[in-house]
Amino acid sequence: MNPNLIARSSLIAVALLTAGVVMAQPQFHRFAERAQRPRHNPDPPVVPASGSVFGDPLPGLNAAQLAAFAVGKEEFENVETADGGLGPIFNNNSCVACHSSGATGGASDILVTRFGRMVRGHFDPLAEKGGSLLQQFAIDPAVQEVIPPEANVIAHRQSTPLFGLGLIEAIPDDAIRQNARRQKPDGVAGRVSEIVDITTGQQRVGRFGWKAQLASLLAFAGDAYLNEMGITSRFFPVENAPNGNTALLAAFDRFADPEDELDPVTEKGDIDAAADFMRFLAPPPRLPLTQSGRAGEMVFGQVGCAVCHQPTMMTGRSPIAALDRKPVNLFSDLLLHDMGALGDGIGQEPAGPREMKTPPLWGLRASGPYLHDGRAATVDEAIRGHDGEGAMARERYNRLSPQQRRQLIEFLNTR
Ligand code: HEC
Ligand code: HEC
Repeated sequence: MNPNLIARSSLIAVALLTAGVVMAQPQFHRFAERAQRPRHNPDPPVVPASGSVFGDPLPGLNAAQLAAFAVGKEEFENVETADGGLGPIFNNNSCVACHSSGATGGASDILVTRFGRMVRGHFDPLAEKGGSLLQQFAIDPAVQEVIPPEANVIAHRQSTPLFGLGLIEAIPDDAIRQNARRQKPDGVAGRVSEIVDITTGQQRVGRFGWKAQLASLLAFAGDAYLNEMGITSRFFPVENAPNGNTALLAAFDRFADPEDELDPVTEKGDIDAAADFMRFLAPPPRLPLTQSGRAGEMVFGQVGCAVCHQPTMMTGRSPIAALDRKPVNLFSDLLLHDMGALGDGIGQEPAGPREMKTPPLWGLRASGPYLHDGRAATVDEAIRGHDGEGAMARERYNRLSPQQRRQLIEFLNTR
């Protein structure tokens, strides 16, 4: 971790403490009442429908969907406190804290840490030691997680932007499977992340996260509430034990699980509201394509970027008109690729340690720094960092004239 990041992390720690993250009373108020905020808001704020700036709702939503977007946005921005169920161990106290570049729902340069142990080519997430995700903060120093000494792999992952995720969610599984079957040049393969979606129990194609580890926004919301904030829900009812220590957890866990209760009026919990917000969030707005940007689009195809960063996919049929059979200009095949030395070294079923999902490139101008751990300050550095299946395209990029490289980057910065 570079010194800037360490400085930033301690700033967050201080901010969280001063924001009223109080010490829990061990075994004092066992299963106290979790502080509830007023949930059902009969007059949600009015949001104009457009889709022309970062953070807008999708164009074409009806009034009920716009209201769900507004309620969900409030939930996404809501700051959790220890009295509201935050922790015992957590990484931050609201979704927006890590997702804010450009607008609520954007990326950020905040990193989370994963660890594990590689033994004879096999990755062990050290689940019994609290892995593979580290929770960096705690409501009490006694439950503070540390990276266990057994870990021999430590990786950082940057927060990703959430614009347009409802469209990505609406892409049929088979369209992604089709991408895997397509013949590709340059030694590019690409594998589907087949997973079981915890919200339905169905086999689905994962598409969210750096490892394509989850298939639905509701699953990601539940996962993030638990693993980033320590708030349990109906799909993730078990708190994370600090470094796997269940006795410590029992001593410091103050609220009965699941903490996220359903609103009796709307029958939705916090995770549903956050999922609504993400589902109805418009894709990043495009900028007009200049002449040199248009030249860059040609270069993008010629050097082989589009083999993985597929410019457009289509959503399937959806009961939500704004998501029904729409083009999705994401610049991704949503497949896992063996990225060689660029892989993050973390095995996360079904993705292997060297495999990473092709990240969408839309909205790139608002999502830096780049690559899974933010190691690339610029788009140029991100391209030069490709390896494995991306090595051939990288080599062709390196051989371009400076003007062609500028055109390519100008193109990407308008999408
Ligand atoms: C501590 C910072 C942090 C907090 C808090 C946080 N996230 Fe994230 N988020 C991340 C990181 C890092 C990733 C990439 C994770 C990965 O792939 O391993 C991510 C990825 C995501 C993704 C996947 C996006 C994609 O396109 O693949 C979704 C969805 C998401 N977060 C939703 C949420 C929601 C909802 C909340 C609040 C409940 C939340 N996040 C809170 C850091 C955070
Ligand atoms: C083999 C598939 C593949 C090819 C070909 C490929 N990429 Fe990528 N690209 C990826 C993957 C996978 C990542 C994420 C790697 C990581 O961060 O670990 C990525 C990351 C990126 C990023 C950083 C995105 C972000 O949000 O951090 C940019 C920019 C990018 N690619 C542009 C390009 C360009 C331009 C080309 C052509 C020169 C190209 N890629 C060719 C698979 C590919």
